[in-house]
Amino acid sequence: MEVVEGDITKRRVDAIVNAANTSLLGGGGVDGAIHRAAGPELLAETRRLGGCPIGQARITNGYGLPARWVIHTVGPIWRGGTEGEDEALARCYRNCLAFAEPYGLNSIAFPSISTGAFGFPLERATRISVSEVARFLKSKSTLVKIEFVCFGIQANEVYQSVTQEIFGA
Ligand code: APR
Repeated sequence: MEVVEGDITKRRVDAIVNAANTSLLGGGGVDGAIHRAAGPELLAETRRLGGCPIGQARITNGYGLPARWVIHTVGPIWRGGTEGEDEALARCYRNCLAFAEPYGLNSIAFPSISTGAFGFPLERATRISVSEVARFLKSKSTLVKIEFVCFGIQANEVYQSVTQEIFGA
């Protein structure tokens, strides 16, 4: 598992994960960046999917992106932590990782789902994402590379410290 700082649309991995909304019709943040980099065919495909519930994930082609696939997932909007936000976020990671076997993915890159417009506290979200990936890595998988792509120094520092805490040095 690697923590990298940068733009997820540039990552050369089999699949990148998009922090989308339930419409899957694009938006700002990483959703906007991915649609811009992939091109209009991505929206044409997501439009046919008819949306996606919170916590679930849908896979599409990557089109103009270096990544072959885009896994769109919808994180929870932070409402104070008493409305099942933690479990919904954990489901996002689990449901994205579930595409690894059927699609034979060797590498996947995650943004920090829900920690932007959806307001999920960064460290709390990071503990959930790193723990879910750690749990997944205990099982046999085709995945040999899982990246957390941090957009900015603050996210990078949080991911570095949480991964060291959970995975050891
Ligand atoms: N590469 C990697 N990470 C990015 C990029 C990028 N190009 N752009 C933004 N991020 C980071 C943000 O800094 C944040 O840490 O992705 C994380 C998630 O932020 P958002 O993109 O705002 O996603 P989220 O908080 O899940 O909110 C989703 O925002 O863009 C809309 O359509 C989207 O309605 C949905 C909502």
